[in-house]
Amino acid sequence: MLADTTERKIDKMIRLLVKNATVVVPGPKLASQIGVTRAAVGLWVKTLRELGAEIKGHVGSGYQLMKIPDILVPSMIQPELGESEIGRVLIHYFRIDSTNTAALYLAQAGAKHGTTVVAEEQTAGRGRLGRTWYSEKSRGIYVSIILRPPFSPSAAPILTLMAGVATQQTLSAITGLSVDIRWPNDLLVNGKKVAGILTEMSAELGRLHAVVLGVGINVNHIEMPAELKRTATSLRIESQKPWSRVQICIALLKEFERYYHLLLESGSAAIAERWEAASTYAKGKRIRILSAEAECLATTMGLDSSGALRARYDDGHEEALVAGEITEVK
Ligand code: BTN
Repeated sequence: MLADTTERKIDKMIRLLVKNATVVVPGPKLASQIGVTRAAVGLWVKTLRELGAEIKGHVGSGYQLMKIPDILVPSMIQPELGESEIGRVLIHYFRIDSTNTAALYLAQAGAKHGTTVVAEEQTAGRGRLGRTWYSEKSRGIYVSIILRPPFSPSAAPILTLMAGVATQQTLSAITGLSVDIRWPNDLLVNGKKVAGILTEMSAELGRLHAVVLGVGINVNHIEMPAELKRTATSLRIESQKPWSRVQICIALLKEFERYYHLLLESGSAAIAERWEAASTYAKGKRIRILSAEAECLATTMGLDSSGALRARYDDGHEEALVAGEITEVK
């Protein structure tokens, strides 16, 4: 993890260059605003270039930003969030073990509802069911949102479905791709996983202190690693073009805000209804239910209002699934 002060200096430098995008910013002005010596400005510009920013150096007069960088720093995201609570506190890391781990720690330390942690790269990204999440540097979005909902821990499944719908809406609206949700929260394009959600919480004695919704999106990966190619993909691979991670991240945080308010105001049935409309897995899908003990075949029968997936097993009995893993039977 880079030192916090490095994060802040880079954020300040981007903010200044973006604000003055069409003009040349004198080196001494950059130095004083980001709080470094004049001699060090060149090194900071080099760091920013390494992060993908296109900066033109004008001999004797200063630096000019040629292209808005696609870096998920607060100065690129927060001005677009308006009054949203989600993202009002936004903590950015260039490199971190896991944004979910950081967010859980912050939640325990009292971080406010809506506090969001985002990273360019994760060295120990975590997936569901003890898996790892491949988190290639500057290619994906790795974000964790802290919520403090006035619910009991039993509401965690509906929050997960809410995150799935918010992510599905964001990705399909921006890319125009057909994005499906495999219960409970895998986002698929052409049958392969493009994003996933990890919900974790801190709770005690029936009281929910905080929920951390961690979202990983494969955005601009040019190729997935060999062991994932069969099951995972990226937006870029599927659409044959790169996407702005900043734009997707802004839209995602806004959709989370919108669906969280829908949940508070209209209840879990409203989320279940949106989820059913967004997923081909909701009704009439032939599925294989995977568990430690056995694999069973069933057909989906819709969600109940708590977010559990009703399944009719081939032997005729019905069950509401609250957690676990399913796959499509083709
Ligand atoms: C899954 O589908 O298994 C869930 C993947 C969740 C990955 C995200 S990336 C951001 C956040 N931090 C993590 O360590 N995991 C989640």
